[in-house]
Amino acid sequence: MKIFLAGGAGYIGCHTALQLLNNGYEVVIADNFSNSCPEAVKRVEALTGKKIALYEIDVQDGAKVKEVFAQEQPDAVIHFAGLKAVGESVQQPIRYYRNNINTTLSLLEAMEATGVKKIIFSSSATVYGEENPSPYKENMPKGSCTNPYGWTKSMMEQIFQDVALTDPELSIVILRYFNPIGAHESGEIGEDPKGIPNNLMPYITQTAVGIREKLTVFGDDYDTPDGTCQRDYIHVMDLADGHVKAVEYLNREQGIDIINLGTGTPYSVLELVNAFQKVNDMKVNYVIGTRRAGDLPVCYADASKAARVLGWKAKRGLEDMCRDSWNWQRKNPQGYRK
Ligand code: WQD
Repeated sequence: MKIFLAGGAGYIGCHTALQLLNNGYEVVIADNFSNSCPEAVKRVEALTGKKIALYEIDVQDGAKVKEVFAQEQPDAVIHFAGLKAVGESVQQPIRYYRNNINTTLSLLEAMEATGVKKIIFSSSATVYGEENPSPYKENMPKGSCTNPYGWTKSMMEQIFQDVALTDPELSIVILRYFNPIGAHESGEIGEDPKGIPNNLMPYITQTAVGIREKLTVFGDDYDTPDGTCQRDYIHVMDLADGHVKAVEYLNREQGIDIINLGTGTPYSVLELVNAFQKVNDMKVNYVIGTRRAGDLPVCYADASKAARVLGWKAKRGLEDMCRDSWNWQRKNPQGYRK
């Protein structure tokens, strides 16, 4: 079975490509490398000893996507392509809506034109919004997002819901990711953000390796056990395994389904920093700062649906996440650029 990964050279895409190849699937990647590198794809090929068909295209370009579909005849699509920086989306909302929604529509049009019926979509816990209490369950109504990035995910979910009604043969899985961190245990592939990281774990690892002077913990006056925000951190390899299970599910079920990919266990910012220091036997320079606008105090999954319908559960713990994130950063201080 051949899977087309839109945005497959990115952080989650390349780990998923690796696990798909390890499970006997063929992989085609389309990526414009706007926030990723061809080197990641080369490393996945080296780790697996398998070839990936790689197309440098912008998935917004529907004509090019159709050409690749005609050439490769994929059986299913996984849609990872999109802009994802929360703060940037507030500064550049038009670019975010244009890019993320166009990309989704061009993939759906190419699927319609070529008869591809199966797709997995990378959504986010952010769509639960501010109204719902954690743990988040898939049957909760979606909430209000705090930024345009989140709204693009929420709107794209709606697009998939509407499209699903038009063709009973379609099989669509919306995966709502929680907070992916970690890296493949080899340290050959991992998260490589451009510029100053927005997310916590790359900020920790870049501080640990000396690229950043210190981490600022955004607020310790939340109504949580230690005052810092709690998140559902999930190892990117567990997330990748979740996609392999979702591909199997696409092959058994038709219609549309929404599934959380999280561990169900929240950890605070300070718990993550302390676990990182302990497992890697090092100090991370940090200070307590003020709250960051838009942060929710607590966000974690009810992970029971993934276990029930996919037969998937996260296997790797916080220590694995901290060790593997550091192993990647230590081996690649400048990411893929060197
Ligand atoms: C985690 C915690 C921060 C940086 C966002 C998106 C989500 C998903 C992942 C991406 C929070 C704290 C962070 C720092 C800190 N999207 N923090 N100092 O905000 O839960 O989720 O990224 O593609 O949709 O909303 O993740 O890693 O930014 O923050 O104290 O320098 O770490 O306040 O409590 P978040 P995060």
